[in-house]
Amino acid sequence: MTAAALLKKDVRTANRRLYDAIGSRYENIDGRRDESLFRWIRKTLTQLSHRHGNGDLLDLGTGSGVVIRAAGDLFENCIALDLSPSMLASIRVNGAHRIAADVDHLPFRDESMDVITCFAVLHHLVDSERLAREVARVLRPGGVFWSDHDIELKFCRRFRGPLSLYRRLRGADRHYMDGQSRLDRKTYDLAECRESGVDSSQTFDDFKRANLDTTACFHWFGLTPLTNRLFSNRMFPKGWAPLLRMIAVKPPR
Ligand SMILES: C[S@@+](CC[C@H](N)C(=O)[O-])C[C@H]1O[C@@H](n2cnc3c(N)ncnc32)[C@H](O)[C@@H]1O
Repeated sequence: MTAAALLKKDVRTANRRLYDAIGSRYENIDGRRDESLFRWIRKTLTQLSHRHGNGDLLDLGTGSGVVIRAAGDLFENCIALDLSPSMLASIRVNGAHRIAADVDHLPFRDESMDVITCFAVLHHLVDSERLAREVARVLRPGGVFWSDHDIELKFCRRFRGPLSLYRRLRGADRHYMDGQSRLDRKTYDLAECRESGVDSSQTFDDFKRANLDTTACFHWFGLTPLTNRLFSNRMFPKGWAPLLRMIAVKPPR
């Protein structure tokens, strides 16, 4: 096995261990999956379902299922995919299909999904090259991939000081590694392998190379009630907002 493949395997194992240990406590620990974020996700899903089809939605790295819950009755069929069986078990949605799998190997037929979502997952992956190819394979022509809520590299570099203060105050790492979960620092750091920022140019290039019409933009929505009020839904130039949003459309035939 190459060093890169070994690292990917270790990161996958760490993610599974971390999220299996957290299970149903995830949303309490994270503290940001509130009603306003839920409505914001639902609004975007509504637009995507109108433009790209409302048959099949696949949510990658679904966690406790915030996207699946927001999708509600917008799609005929919702599929939740995650590495962690314990996270999948915590989803409170009747009728959602749950699949334990890795985003790099999607167990679906070619051209079988209208919409694929990926919320706060990219920073848990060593890279997104294989993911982009899998998304391009599984999307129907005219279908769309929406990824959001990963912290972007240029912003992290520019605002290293304030970001580290925000993280220290939030203390997510302390909550993840509390006595109940019995996780060690190495597992946490491996699972959060791109906590210091997802390189949006690299990610954008991966999706472009997979022949998807890709756009990337940057925003603040969903971090705190104060930043929601201050910055609302506005998009910012790269480096001036923390959260990366990527939309990648498979060209229609
Ligand atoms: C930060 S949580 C986000 C959960 C959910 N999308 C949300 O926003 O509430 C990241 C999720 O990605 C999953 N994950 C990490 N790496 C994965 C991989 N390679 N394949 C599938 N799921 C993965 C984790 O198990 C975890 O549930």
